[in-house]
Amino acid sequence: MPDRISFFEHETWTAGVIGLGYVGLPLAVNAVQRGLRAVGFDVDKAAVARLRGGRSPVEDVSDEALQEALGAGLEVTTDESRLAEADALFICVPSPLNRHREPDMRFIEAAADTVRRVVRPGMLVSLESTTYPGTTEDLLVPAATASGLLLDDEVFVCFSSERVDPGRNRELGSIPKVVGGVTPASTRVAAAAYGRLVERVHAVSSARAAEMSKLLENTYRAVNIGLVNEMAQLAHELDIDIWEVIAAAATKPFGFQPFYPGPGVGGHCIPLDPNYLAWRAREAGFATRFIDLAEQVNTRMPAYTADRITELLNQRGLPVFGTRILGVGLAFKPDVADDRESPAVDVLELLAGRGAEVLAWDPLVGPGRIASYGFTPVDGGMPKGVALAVILTDHELFDYPAIAAAVPVVFDTRGAYSRRGLAADNVVTL
Ligand SMILES: NC(=O)c1ccc[n+]([C@@H]2O[C@H](COP(=O)([O-])OP(=O)(O)OC[C@H]3O[C@@H](n4cnc5c(N)ncnc54)[C@H](O)[C@@H]3O)[C@@H](O)[C@H]2O)c1
Repeated sequence: MPDRISFFEHETWTAGVIGLGYVGLPLAVNAVQRGLRAVGFDVDKAAVARLRGGRSPVEDVSDEALQEALGAGLEVTTDESRLAEADALFICVPSPLNRHREPDMRFIEAAADTVRRVVRPGMLVSLESTTYPGTTEDLLVPAATASGLLLDDEVFVCFSSERVDPGRNRELGSIPKVVGGVTPASTRVAAAAYGRLVERVHAVSSARAAEMSKLLENTYRAVNIGLVNEMAQLAHELDIDIWEVIAAAATKPFGFQPFYPGPGVGGHCIPLDPNYLAWRAREAGFATRFIDLAEQVNTRMPAYTADRITELLNQRGLPVFGTRILGVGLAFKPDVADDRESPAVDVLELLAGRGAEVLAWDPLVGPGRIASYGFTPVDGGMPKGVALAVILTDHELFDYPAIAAAVPVVFDTRGAYSRRGLAADNVVTL
């Protein structure tokens, strides 16, 4: 085992990445940028062909960075057997929920099957997909040792959560990495390997602690967003501007971290991850009341937003039915093209369901995706006859004063105007 620590610390080893999406692709590119080799495997043939052509689907990896990495030894393949060339395997496959909002483990199970087929003596196997505590022990240790390899002698297994923040262009290696092996020996080997990928490794005593730390991080966000979404509704009842309140509270230099209300929570993590913990808690007979409450509040926000818009139109003598409404921003958060689980879509679908004529504008998400939801895409230039524009995602690229000047009323669910110090009489906030 000391040999393996020294190997990962000093040799030019090969990272094998399973799943080349938002998490896996930056990891593989980062490994090559740091002088290692990388083999990336994905089951999606079209995605691999695009990557081979030097086109990156991920905002944080530019086409140039991908092309450079391909030139410097990054291999991308649909041939699973190439992973046998790797010294460490990093599993970065999706971990969604099924239709009962319970963990859908099919992708991690399939990746574990891949591990079973390609594992070689000396390998480190690391799970990066977000999951419930116990997954690494339950699924990956059996896979890594199925061929008779001895844990901590011939093979090492750990969990290390991914903390990428898509669209924020943070340098991946600058984000500290939590690493927990299934045993102390696995932790030490894993920490040595990750020490080559990131500037700071924080080792914990078990894979389960590492798995739970990721869920705590995202549950913390979900709960605080739920809290501020409830506060926003209360502030409206009391005729107080929640954005002014948050800006004031945020001047406190300690003990307060600002979270902002919005039309709901979206993306791949916050709406999903706490459910992994809640599901595991139910198995243990434990009630996760904060998680459940935050989910209730946050999932009601699109309906609350649609109700506020209905009320605003009503105050102007307009029905929702037949009225032209423009949704501004469809992505789940600012400055990304990702519209997975976006609450903006939910809000507009609710309004369309009430008979509104829904137009949507998001140059990052693009007209094709917008049309796929049944909304009329707006592609530059303000359309005529819009009764209300609703700011659903506050991309930097929007010209907010121009939007307010072009429509009778703006409903701003993101504090886009007040947070930028912009004022307009016809802007109403969430
Ligand atoms: N996107 C984020 O910001 C983020 C942040 C932290 C953690 N995570 C977690 O990381 C994991 C991956 O998320 P993502 O956003 O990168 O997903 P993604 O959908 O962008 O990418 C996953 C990739 O895995 C591939 N894949 C699926 N099954 C496979 C298999 N059996 N073998 C090989 N490839 C397979 C898919 O084709 C896809 O390209 C999830 O658990 C997610 O919760 C995501």
